[in-house]
Amino acid sequence: MISLQFEEGIVFSLIKSKEKMAVLEKLNSANAIALEDKYGAHNYHPLPVVLSKGEGVYVWDVEGKKYYDFLSAYSAVNQGHCHPRIVGAMADQAQTLTLTSRAFYNDKLGVYEKYITDYFGFDKVLPMNTGAEAVETALKICRKWAYEKKGINENEAQIIVCENNFHGRTTTIISFSNDENARKNFGPYTEGFIKIAYDDIDALEKAITSSPNIAGFLVEPIQGEAGVYVPSEGYLAKAKALCEKHNVLFIADEVQTGIARTGSLLAVCGNCTCENKCEKQATYVQPDILILGKALSGGAYPVSAVLANDAIMGVIKPGQHGSTFGGNPVAAAVAIAALEVVKDEKLAENAERLGQVFRSEMNKYIATSNICTLVRGKGLLNAIVINDTEESETAWNICMKLRDNGLLAKPTHGNIIRFAPPLVMNEEQLMDCVSIITKTLQEFEK
Ligand SMILES: Cc1ncc(COP(=O)(O)O)c(C=O)c1O
Repeated sequence: MISLQFEEGIVFSLIKSKEKMAVLEKLNSANAIALEDKYGAHNYHPLPVVLSKGEGVYVWDVEGKKYYDFLSAYSAVNQGHCHPRIVGAMADQAQTLTLTSRAFYNDKLGVYEKYITDYFGFDKVLPMNTGAEAVETALKICRKWAYEKKGINENEAQIIVCENNFHGRTTTIISFSNDENARKNFGPYTEGFIKIAYDDIDALEKAITSSPNIAGFLVEPIQGEAGVYVPSEGYLAKAKALCEKHNVLFIADEVQTGIARTGSLLAVCGNCTCENKCEKQATYVQPDILILGKALSGGAYPVSAVLANDAIMGVIKPGQHGSTFGGNPVAAAVAIAALEVVKDEKLAENAERLGQVFRSEMNKYIATSNICTLVRGKGLLNAIVINDTEESETAWNICMKLRDNGLLAKPTHGNIIRFAPPLVMNEEQLMDCVSIITKTLQEFEK
């Protein structure tokens, strides 16, 4: 038995057995926060709530208080917390075979690769673990394609990205971020990126035609982290057409927007809620490279993927890219289960329908509100804008009150609060959440 003594005199004990170490008594929120504060790097600024259990749309804190989760682990838990089918697939596979070196084949990877490529309509997949790794993978594939297929001179390829992008945290990715907090003092930065305004087709055309060395255009179909910015109707289709015309790869980062979050299987599918027949829809924009992560595992396990057709993916040869865990049997089993749940439970349709209800209810409130000026989004990826400066604490304080009232959300940027509940929510629960949100906002009306 190990006992931990806190400054405030609270003791809790850890029982050490052969198999496990479990916190047995008196781990309350204050203790848990103190532990993270003392022993963890301070690279996040969490809302003070300590979660210990999740099921469906709900999470519970260590004191047993129940909350609606309105962030879904940044859209990783689209299928709801601890979905029994996903957890079951993970547990079964974990008891059978967890990891083999990619020096050998395993009996799950090929099955998963066929499943996911059929599901999204691509020839090939390259499995990775986190979203940032998948973005890095896409950038490498794009550069290699540029040199070997497009004929750009070595080391001269340029990839166009958008202002206020968020694609992850690696050195290369933060090199083209314009979030100073994410960038500052992490240089020297990776070269080879041109930044243009988001949702500006003229800017894209200008950049694409500015040089023969343009290899790709990396874009989030909706900018989630920036504050849920939905581009204007037709922007993605026009961008894709421009890319096609100039032999530039259209790379869609759907790590946050993909897998039913925005009311369709992918945000590039527009409003299509069909089952895997997206290419027949007028609004569908087929990316040359598709990047997925987060909900690809339903939040159960880090699983990400890059999908492309043979003409592009074929540039990657043995030894040129990989990851110890990428394509492991647990990831493969979990991802298949997570994607099956999305289809079988019609989560895209549910997100589309509930998203309309949410925005319509919020708009009714906003019509007479001074504190909330706007709701925007698609499907169940939405944000409200708080009537205060970006530097103000108001949005944070509203999130604290939402917490007290039983709903968890967090500002993306100073005065913008993102709302992204699990997609397994039903209408009654959503209306309950709308009521919590509007009652909370009322407390802040001037
Ligand atoms: C659009 C987008 N791309 C990439 C990432 C990075 O994913 P990860 O945190 O799994 O590395 C995120 C994470 O929020 C994201 O929203």
